Amino acid sequence: MAKMMWAGRFSSEADPRVNDFNSSISFDARMYAQDIRGSIAHATMLGECGIIEKTESEKLVEGLKGILADLDSGSLSFDPNAEDIHMFIEQVLTERLGDTGKRLHTARSRNDQVALDIRLYLRDQTKEIQSLVHDLIETLMTIAQEHIYTVMPGYTHLQRAQPITFAHHIMAYAQMLARDLSRLDDAYKRMDIMPLGSGALASTTYPIDRKRVCELLGFSDITYNSLDGVSDRDFCIELCSAISLLMMHLSRFSEEIIMWCSWEFKFIELSDAFSTGSSIMPQKKNPDITELIRGKTGRVYGDLMTLLSMMKGLPLAYNKDMQEDKEAIFDAIDTVKLCITTFIPMLSTMTVNKENMRRAAAKGFINATDCADYLVKKGMPFRDAYKITGTLVALCIKKETVLEELPLEEYKRLSDVFDEDVYKAIDLDTCVMQRKADGGPAPEAVAVQIEKLKAQLRSRGE
Ligand code: ARG
Repeated sequence: MAKMMWAGRFSSEADPRVNDFNSSISFDARMYAQDIRGSIAHATMLGECGIIEKTESEKLVEGLKGILADLDSGSLSFDPNAEDIHMFIEQVLTERLGDTGKRLHTARSRNDQVALDIRLYLRDQTKEIQSLVHDLIETLMTIAQEHIYTVMPGYTHLQRAQPITFAHHIMAYAQMLARDLSRLDDAYKRMDIMPLGSGALASTTYPIDRKRVCELLGFSDITYNSLDGVSDRDFCIELCSAISLLMMHLSRFSEEIIMWCSWEFKFIELSDAFSTGSSIMPQKKNPDITELIRGKTGRVYGDLMTLLSMMKGLPLAYNKDMQEDKEAIFDAIDTVKLCITTFIPMLSTMTVNKENMRRAAAKGFINATDCADYLVKKGMPFRDAYKITGTLVALCIKKETVLEELPLEEYKRLSDVFDEDVYKAIDLDTCVMQRKADGGPAPEAVAVQIEKLKAQLRSRGE
């Protein structure tokens, strides 16, 4: 086993069980490119500030680039016995460069190094998640555009309430996802701060130039308190909570898809390629993907709880507990990316059963509000109109009919305001077309909604 880098103060080697318990290389190895990028910036700055010789700085940079290339190509593999990715890379560098390699860690601690690496890694991952969310919104807008005239029932309490269109329903999720994008922007802003130079906790006595490292790594600013710089993990928690909200939206959507696929609804059918069968029941076609998204949402909430609980009692500054941040936030990131990557093609290949949606909207007195509104528009106070319509609905239920088919005499018996034009007013299409207030389900309003969201995405430069 390689001697630990901190071996100087210790007279015996670590027990192998401690080494395994302590090691984070099995999960932090994924930050190798970020670790090397940070070290290149650090080594460059050390050379520029005269803290190490220029030539040594150059050798370090070249050596680090070589390690990056070898890890990328797979010709160098991670040592599972290394304590973490930071130690591993420094070890390889020292093996390759001798004494020069030993100069890299001047004016740096693993505490500020790891704080930097996670920020660099999460910055990249946030952008990747955003690009997937962006693709998902695009997919939803394409579906919405095709279904601007597809009438379906809108629900409250899962009871048919008022008619809407499938486009409008789908766009509700697009709006949620657009907010998720902006929440990720916010999370990005606060993780985009450079902590290197905080040292172990109390900065350093070397004449370092933190602003230069900041510039080399493209951060928007540096941290201004070294204790905070090494011990802040709010940015992980913030990202995880933005991911949790995003998962909550995907889960809600998944729940609706699961219902819509049922024989009871039959509003949509998923393509065979995105459904699964049963090992025993030959008739089954199961929406497993959406169920897994719903299930995995709980798992991401668990990651968020891990992070919050892990941080809540820690004294300043760094504590080893904080090594536990990685598996949680990595799991949240992997999960959300996997979910969206599968969700997009599942949505774009599903079949929408317009007829069934319309049939469901044509029953259930979904036009009762419109019937009351008809009377109001003829001058009746809304409460009176509401009462009369309620009586009409009760009458229809008794007679096993619907408002559209109730004879005019029955209407007139309750109010002489009713006339032949009531049938037009409560016609399903009229009910949707008339809901053209900003943000409403009428095709013209939904078209505006789609255009606005498109413009919003364009202004993000995506
Ligand atoms: N592997 C550690 C982590 O992930 C790196 C920092 C270790 N620092 C220390 N003083 N032990 O948090």
